[in-house]
Amino acid sequence: MKNPSLLNFVLCAVTLASLNNAAPTLKSVTSSSNPALTPTGTSTDPAPASSPTVPYASDDPNGIAWNVTTDTDPQPIRGSLGGTILGPQNIPLQQQNPDLLAPPTTDAGTVPNFKWPFSLSHNRLQTGGWARQQNEQEMPIATSMAGVNMRLEPGAIRELHWHQTAEWAYQLSGTTQVTAVDQLGRNFVGNVNPGDLWYFPPGIPHSLQATNATEEGSEFLLIFPSGTFNEDDTFLLTDWMAHIPKEVIARNFQTSISAWNDIPGQELYIFPSEPPTTDVPPSDPQGQVPQPFAFNFSGVAPTQYSGGTAKIADSTTFSVSTEVAVAEITVEPGAMRELHWHPSQDEWGFYLEGYGRMTLFAAEGNAMTVDFEPGDISFAPATYGHYVENIGNTTLKFLEIFNTAVFQDVSLAQWLALTPPALVKAHLDISDETIAHLNKTKQVVVGPSA
Ligand SMILES: *[C@@H]1O[C@H](CO)[C@@H](O)[C@H](O)[C@H]1NC(C)=O
Ligand SMILES: *[C@@H]1O[C@H](CO)[C@@H](O)[C@H](O)[C@H]1NC(C)=O
Ligand SMILES: *[C@@H]1O[C@H](CO)[C@@H](O)[C@H](O)[C@H]1NC(C)=O
Ligand SMILES: *[C@@H]1O[C@H](CO)[C@@H](O)[C@H](O)[C@H]1NC(C)=O
Ligand SMILES: *[C@@H]1O[C@H](CO)[C@@H](O)[C@H](O)[C@H]1NC(C)=O
Repeated sequence: MKNPSLLNFVLCAVTLASLNNAAPTLKSVTSSSNPALTPTGTSTDPAPASSPTVPYASDDPNGIAWNVTTDTDPQPIRGSLGGTILGPQNIPLQQQNPDLLAPPTTDAGTVPNFKWPFSLSHNRLQTGGWARQQNEQEMPIATSMAGVNMRLEPGAIRELHWHQTAEWAYQLSGTTQVTAVDQLGRNFVGNVNPGDLWYFPPGIPHSLQATNATEEGSEFLLIFPSGTFNEDDTFLLTDWMAHIPKEVIARNFQTSISAWNDIPGQELYIFPSEPPTTDVPPSDPQGQVPQPFAFNFSGVAPTQYSGGTAKIADSTTFSVSTEVAVAEITVEPGAMRELHWHPSQDEWGFYLEGYGRMTLFAAEGNAMTVDFEPGDISFAPATYGHYVENIGNTTLKFLEIFNTAVFQDVSLAQWLALTPPALVKAHLDISDETIAHLNKTKQVVVGPSA
């Protein structure tokens, strides 16, 4: 047999099905192989072969207990653990969250909630569109970024406004025309298509408008590098104008008061209008913004890995985007985004297609596994180890979004591959063959097991 570990895996899985798999399996830990019990000082032997001073980790593969297609009643049962729910239950939510109801036995301790479906966000409906958000109020762990999902019908406008944080966006459907003028009076107009990005630095005034490129109009994801950002708390043109004495307005613009007879008495926020007829900015004696506020991310070729693809947009390619970076990842069925962490940046994740499973390792024995589907948000604080497994049978596609200028990650496999092998062996007691198998090149998205 080419792969003896596969046979072990199958046998263990069969055996463990009838055991209490929460108990650590104590294999052949003998006193003679335990360095803690070896007399010291007199021996001239080389150091004893490494062996655990603690019980072995369980061999339970700890796969997902059910998936979205399972039509049997999902219950909090894993092997001999758990029992049925006798009280009231919300079965659709249980079906969507197998790893909350029947967690793998590797989960332990307490990790703050790191899943938020936009479906649970309170929506704001306007004539012409809607907006819903996730900030610290919905998910307290997400202190560094907030997200907004916005929809505009053809021609509808998210009005001229500005705010304290930068604004980054990923176009989900249709085309949005964005406009801005910077602090030096340089302007920008651009059309942003599905999979493309825009970015406005903090305080720069801008607008968003759906074109009529598609019949339905536009939908996009906005990210703000602040967990307390509130979409209802931005500085709107109409809101300001409605709160300035008319006499001051007239003097400021050097007009009569009557020139301002018809301005709105309160904010518009999102409102219907005619689609834009041009994407050419008004002529500007100061010129255009030197770094475009839109980026053709859909035109960037992804890098192919054994289990899927990845492509990145950060300030090295989208130069103005100094406070937000993104990786767009695809993972094929049976494959996974490898075990990794981000050294100094939090990750705000957004699921576009397919089904994912992620365990967040929070140190001190704390770990929690959560399942995601399209429209769900995940959050992984800087340095917290994680992976994302495709648990469906279609391509999984998601965004990893960071509050940083440059994308960075640390690969567990690459770390171990480039560490002295004896040191790795001393920790994990894995074979030389397994150590030789560790790849010194980052794999990013790894295919199904060999
Ligand atoms: C979209 O708007 C432009 C500009 O008003 C117009 O010329 C064009 O016919 C419109 N297209 C559709 C499909 O409505
Ligand atoms: C984006 O880049 C791709 C590949 O270079 C190109 O085909 C496409 O036309 C570009 N889109 C825009 C809006 O410029
Ligand atoms: C997988 O494929 C089957 C058969 O095509 C389909 O019925 C099912 O919905 C798919 N999804 C999952 C998550 O298994
Ligand atoms: C989902 O679960 C069903 C059984 O409940 C199984 O047949 C199917 O293969 C599973 N799909 C995936 C993608 O694991
Ligand atoms: C390591 O990764 C590289 C690049 O992904 C690949 O070409 C190579 O075959 C891998 N080596 C091993 C030993 O898996």
